[in-house]
Formats: sequence, C-alpha cells, structure tokens
Amino acid sequence: MPNIVIVGIQWGDEGKGKIVDLLADHADIIVRFQGGNNAGHTLVVDDKKIILHLIPSGILHPDKLCIIGNGVVVDPEVLIEEIESLRGQGFFPDDAMLRVSSEAHLIMPYHKLIDHAREAKNAKGKIGTTGRGIGPAYEDKATRVGIRMCDLANPGFLKERIESALAERNFLLTRYFDQSPVDPREVFDRLMALSEKITQYIADIPAILASRIARGASVMFEGAQGTLLDIDHGTFPYVTSSHTVAGCAATGAGIGPTMIDAVYGISKAYTTRVGGGPFPTELFDDIGRCLQEKGTEFGATTGRKRRCGWFDAVAAQHSVRVNSLSGIIMTKLDVLSGLSSLMICTGYEVDGRLIDEFPSDIPTLDRVVPRYIELPGFKDDIGKARDYSDLPDNARNYIDKIEELLAVPVTMISVGAERTQTIIRRHPFAP
Ligand code: IMP
Repeated sequence: MPNIVIVGIQWGDEGKGKIVDLLADHADIIVRFQGGNNAGHTLVVDDKKIILHLIPSGILHPDKLCIIGNGVVVDPEVLIEEIESLRGQGFFPDDAMLRVSSEAHLIMPYHKLIDHAREAKNAKGKIGTTGRGIGPAYEDKATRVGIRMCDLANPGFLKERIESALAERNFLLTRYFDQSPVDPREVFDRLMALSEKITQYIADIPAILASRIARGASVMFEGAQGTLLDIDHGTFPYVTSSHTVAGCAATGAGIGPTMIDAVYGISKAYTTRVGGGPFPTELFDDIGRCLQEKGTEFGATTGRKRRCGWFDAVAAQHSVRVNSLSGIIMTKLDVLSGLSSLMICTGYEVDGRLIDEFPSDIPTLDRVVPRYIELPGFKDDIGKARDYSDLPDNARNYIDKIEELLAVPVTMISVGAERTQTIIRRHPFAP
C-alpha cells in the first residue's frame, strides 16, 4: 500500500479534514508534519461536529496510529485539551493511538504573547495570524533557543533552556512591545505539571515510521494550511511560518523523500483566504457574499469570515509545480450550484502585460488584474451525486476545464460535508 501526502493547494481551509478523515480508513498511520494548532479541521461524523487543531484527523478511527511529527510546533495545553475533549466525545480509547516526536518544538506562553504583541504593534502590515504563537515558536527553533519535547525528560536542562530563551524574549517583550516580563520559574513549573500528561506519548518517530513502513504499513501525511501560505512558496510575508508543501512531509516527519509514493492536492472549487495578503480573484460583490454564506466560510480556528473568490488556475498551477501533484481532490463543488456562470482565472494582467506565472513579490501580486474564462453554471442540487456521471454536464465541464488547465487529474470530488458525499474517480490508496 502506498504512502501518500495530502496538502492544501490554496490558502488553507480547503476541506482537508473531511478528506483526510475519509482516507484514514485506508492508511495505517496518519502523520501531521508541520504547523501547529493554527490549523482547524472540521469533521462531521454522525451529525457530530468535531474540530481538531493539532491531533491528526485519523484519531477518530480506533485502529490507527496518529503521529505528530518533529516539524509540528506543539502547544502542550492544547494537546492536553484536545485529548480530553476527544475522550469526552467517546473517541481516542487507547493512549497507544498517539505518538509525538521527541524532536517537536513546544509553543511556550511567551510565544503567544509575542505573536499578539507583534500584530498589535504592526497594525499596518498585519499578517492576521491566528495568535497561537506559531511564528515565534518557529523563530526560536531557527535561532536554536526553542524548547523540545525531549527536554521534558531533563528538568535541570529544561530550566536552563527556559531561562536562556526568556533572557532574550523578555527584553523584546518589555523593551520593544511594552509588555510585562514572563517569569521563567512560572513557565517551568507549569510545563512540568503538564509534562506528566504528555511524556507517555513522546517517541522516536523516524524509528517507528521506518520499522512500520518496512513491515508494509501505509502512511498518510496530513498537511495543514495550504501551499500559498508556505514560508518560501507562498505569498510571503503573508504566510505561516512553516513549510506547507509536500516536501516537508519528509523533513517534518523524519523519512526520506523516496518513501513518498504520491501527493494529492486539495482545492476548493473556488478560493478562500483568511487573514491579510493578496488574493487576486477575491470577490467583493454578491457572488462573494453568496460563496461565503453558502460555503459557511468562517475559520475553524479563529471564527473569522473567510474572504471568497473565483478559482485561480494561475495560483493552482504554481501549487501543482511546487508539490509535484499526482492528483487533485476538489471540495465544496456543491457550493457553486445556483450560479449562472462560473469564472476561472487563467492569467494575470500586470501593467498591460499578460502573465501566466504566479508572481513572488507582493507589490506585483497586489496589482495583478485577473483574466477569466466564463463557463455556464449549474442549478441542480448535487449533494446526492456519488459518481462522476451523476453530475450535471456543466459541473463536469467545469472540472474538465480545471483538469485541462492544470494538467493534473481531479481524482475525488466532495459534494457536501458528510463522508458519504464524495465522488471517487480514482482512490489515492488504489494500488
Ligand atoms: P499563523 O500561522 O497563525 O502565524 O498565521 C499566518 C497566516 O496564516 C495568517 O494569515 C493566518 O490567517 C493564516 N493561517 C494559519 N493557519 C491557517 C489555516 O489553518 N487555514 C487558513 N489560514 C491559516
């Protein structure tokens, strides 16, 4: 059975939760490899709504191993809350279902303070972060003052690490952000109290993955956010602080790239974005409002309204390239039903010149004028479609056009929030 990577190919919120949950049936191990609790996967199971921010969606399946890889930044408070909430809803019956990398970095209380203080101070260039301390936690990793899961086993060392991180961070908090300093002793004591509930999950993930894969296990690597939020390949600086592209599945979990058999990109049938930053196909009219309402486009993590717009094939082509996609899984096609025409952006005009590449710089992206092709819409309720042939001609026409523009097959199509509301043209786990 193959090992596959699932990533979002837009600005996050592509509906990965439902798809990963659906595909988890066919994988033995589900791995998160980047990001943190800035992600929010909404799952609907038997009319119960479950929102997961950190733990892989596979946790709803009792026979799976769920892994939080070294590339993830973990807020220990959130991890414990999520475990307890899952238990309260009758999921996660066995501790052995979850393992967290000993190399994963922790989101500390001061990371959250800095995240908020920076956004407040930087009102003009606001990124619109989720405020979960993600950026500052990755900063500490890069500057080598971060705290890792394995440090919890060495209290003396941990105490010193916290003190040395705070020597710098408190300077920033008090002198630059006008905030109160954080007491290293309090941070240490709190973390030691939390560590009792976490240490049982900490493990050597590369060793587990290597041995399970060698024995034939199939792994699904579950990306969070989306390609256009990647720190290198996204709309920098309006991005998250991790690599959201498929390549990070290898570095963020501790396997080599030759272990990956296929990469699937999840895309909404239209486009959304939360937070700041350029969004060439954004709609400010009734159609944008209609997509927002019909698609219930509110962030699962922050509850913010998502900005909505047409499908952008220029941005999607960029995502196809940087992820080497094997196929596309399209979600929320049902939301487009009722619109008289459907627009697809196939090029950008910049200063009178037509380009078909996704610009890296914000000043250019901010002034591109999208060029569209117009296709006829469809009116039917497609929530009951289970086969490609059940879709109205115009819906198929729309998907065929996207396949043609991206030169990648659309292998699955989601037509509603329930697991069953899915058309599978080619199963990602098919041999
Ligand atoms: P951060 O990841 O909290 O630092 O936020 C950086 C940017 O990424 C902001 O624009 C957020 O709105 C966006 N972002 C982070 N996580 C998600 C997500 O899961 N879905 C959509 N946008 C996200």
